[in-house]
Amino acid sequence: MTGWHGLLPRPVDVRPVEGECVWDGQVEVRHEELPAEAYRLEINPAGVTVTAGDHAGECHARQTLRQLAGPAAFRTASIHSGPVTLPCGTVSDRPRFSWRGCLLDVARNFRPKYEVLRFIDQLAAHKLNVLHLHLTDDQGWRIEIPRYPRLTEVGAWRTGSMVGRHDGPERDGRPHGGFYTGDDLREIVAYARERAITVVPEIDLPGHSMAAIAAYPELGSSERPEVWTSWGISDDLLRPTESTLDFFAAVFDEVTAIFPAEMIGIGGDEVPGATAEHGRLLAGIAAHLETRGRRALGWDEVLEAGAEFPRSTVIGSWRGEEAGVQAASAGHDVVMCPEQYVYLDHRQSDHPDEPIPVGFLHTLEHVYGYEPLPPGLPEDAHERVLGAQAQVWTEHLDTARRVDYATFPRLAAFAEVVWSPREHRDYGEFLPRLRDHHLPRLDALGVEYRPLDGPLPWQTRPGVPGRPR
Ligand code: ACM
Repeated sequence: MTGWHGLLPRPVDVRPVEGECVWDGQVEVRHEELPAEAYRLEINPAGVTVTAGDHAGECHARQTLRQLAGPAAFRTASIHSGPVTLPCGTVSDRPRFSWRGCLLDVARNFRPKYEVLRFIDQLAAHKLNVLHLHLTDDQGWRIEIPRYPRLTEVGAWRTGSMVGRHDGPERDGRPHGGFYTGDDLREIVAYARERAITVVPEIDLPGHSMAAIAAYPELGSSERPEVWTSWGISDDLLRPTESTLDFFAAVFDEVTAIFPAEMIGIGGDEVPGATAEHGRLLAGIAAHLETRGRRALGWDEVLEAGAEFPRSTVIGSWRGEEAGVQAASAGHDVVMCPEQYVYLDHRQSDHPDEPIPVGFLHTLEHVYGYEPLPPGLPEDAHERVLGAQAQVWTEHLDTARRVDYATFPRLAAFAEVVWSPREHRDYGEFLPRLRDHHLPRLDALGVEYRPLDGPLPWQTRPGVPGRPR
């Protein structure tokens, strides 16, 4: 029996009482007016009652119950016969933020559908509620668009990949590719919805578009466009013309037909040499989405794009926290995802065996200490911060094992950052709870997280260069 003290993320209010419940697996569910995603879980010797106002609240209550049932409840099949013993008491819980996200980059290294579904299970176990799917980039286009078949016929494949991070011409010589059909994505959306997770798709424009340009060269200006085999920032941008706008308006119409999410990612990041015309192209897509009843989600560069974006545009503040303050002060809703704190592809330690160390040093404690309300944010703009999002970019994560290693246990720390009341967060209290109660759950789930004291021998990548900052 885990006990109430082992829950993660830490609930708002827990009232243990004496006694145990010998539980037969039945749950009585009651519906009541409660804030979005809130729930109450009551356990007494006679049984288990969940009270929720919505589907999400019920899902979260069931995850809490699963944690109380012990690590074996995280296996895909029961290995014990007979009832489970639960502690008696009541938990009343609700999230601090409405956007508790994680980005998964399926463009740089394609993730087969079963890996995405498994990732959704992992998010649900941590009460996270947004999966931001980064579907297109220079290195691959991953969503089938029937009107433009070459996007996946050509854009979903590359001839090889850079291994690690370097400036040399060496590539692995191994073709890489893959894409999702519309029905694959509908299945992913439905699977996520059952688990109270919204899938937010992203088509990244007008940079990060070499795969689209390779498929339809008239979209760009390169002589011999190719799906990129390099990592980094390319200066090959979309040509900001009316015909490019029409092309992508049709792409986004297909995207909105598949994804019911209110927010739809349009990119906007890392655009060296972009002009005001590029800004207008992107703003045109944001306006087009508004005519379809959706809201654009753009990276913080769109604030500097030299174009008028609809006020409904949500800003992803990734280059730091200042853009979040600016955007919120200008009346935009904001998702905080600063690379200085929540980029889970960045290195977890200065350990000499840390595999392919890139980016900033983001220890578990550093991620746990992140505060989503940025410093300097005026009080009256607090409600503009919808929440925060961790980001799993996959240039250097070519297998599910590598994704597990980079993502966990730091995503467990992040889950508490976005769920639990700020005054409940205490790393000294969190660490033993993670170690003694939560890591055994991840073990049972089959997640190959980074052990707290460093990588296991097979988790290292000797000789593969990184690029620490
Ligand atoms: C980003 O990391 N380029 C959003």
